[in-house]
Amino acid sequence: MKHLLKLMDLSAKEINEILNLADQLKFEKKNGIEHHLLKGKTLGMIFEKSSTRTRVSFEVGMYDLGGSALFLSSRDLQIGRGEPVQDTARVLSRYLDGIMIRTFAQKEVEDLATYGSIPIINGLTDYCHPCQVLADLMTIREYKGGFVGNKLCYIGDGNNMTNSLIVGGIKMGMEVSVACPNGYRPDEKLMQWASENGKFTVTDDVLEAAKGADVLYTDVWASMGQESEAEERKRIFKGYQINAKVMEVANEKAMVLHCLPAHREEEITAEVFEAHANEIFDEAENRLHAQKAVLVKCLGE
Ligand code: CP
Ligand code: NVA
Repeated sequence: MKHLLKLMDLSAKEINEILNLADQLKFEKKNGIEHHLLKGKTLGMIFEKSSTRTRVSFEVGMYDLGGSALFLSSRDLQIGRGEPVQDTARVLSRYLDGIMIRTFAQKEVEDLATYGSIPIINGLTDYCHPCQVLADLMTIREYKGGFVGNKLCYIGDGNNMTNSLIVGGIKMGMEVSVACPNGYRPDEKLMQWASENGKFTVTDDVLEAAKGADVLYTDVWASMGQESEAEERKRIFKGYQINAKVMEVANEKAMVLHCLPAHREEEITAEVFEAHANEIFDEAENRLHAQKAVLVKCLGE
């Protein structure tokens, strides 16, 4: 695998291979089995947005794999002062073995891959969040034993998470339903692709989308970069929440996932969040294992 720019670039077979390797790396880590598969390799981590999970799990992941990671904030890099991404890509390719980048425009990630000569991993853009969804799929497989026959329901803003969940869910054979207000739907082209390649529905009716769901998923109403819209979004998204009513119409064994950070009483009630905290924090932990698998596939092969 050369890069991880978006999930659409991966086949179901490649996703399965990443998940299998992630399971193996998780087992080895839990059992103290060293796996220095990236000995001596260095990952640069460019952050143009905040992060807790992505930053820490990539940094620890590289350490676990025998390599090292550099935290590169755009506040300090020349990229933050306007140095073109084309030049940054060519310079960093001379020093590093791979780059993880979290930024706004998907095009910036694609440009890094075009102009650089080392693997590029997307650590979140406004368009998608592939690393998160690989960890989500890993967690769903752990709890449900597989994908086919399961319905994944996303409630909330049709954002980067929704786009990646639709692709990941459909590719792995799950039914995917999305509930979001009109005007805040996921990427139109992705919805079209999902309808042509699997069982996909989009509605503004939360209870309709959640009916019989095996996995319920939500994310913040205002993403990074949308802080100025936060108050307006609170009004628009009111009711697009995972709460007791939603749990009632879902499958009685439904699991609840959240990429975090969570805003209690906005997209999810504190009650539901705490009742499903095991799943949500297993999901957060799995960021580490899934990303180590991605790192091995991109930097090690
Ligand atoms: N879910 C996620 O990507 O978390 P961070 O923003 O903390 O990295
Ligand atoms: N949609 C959120 C995801 C955070 C992990 C954001 O982009 O801020």
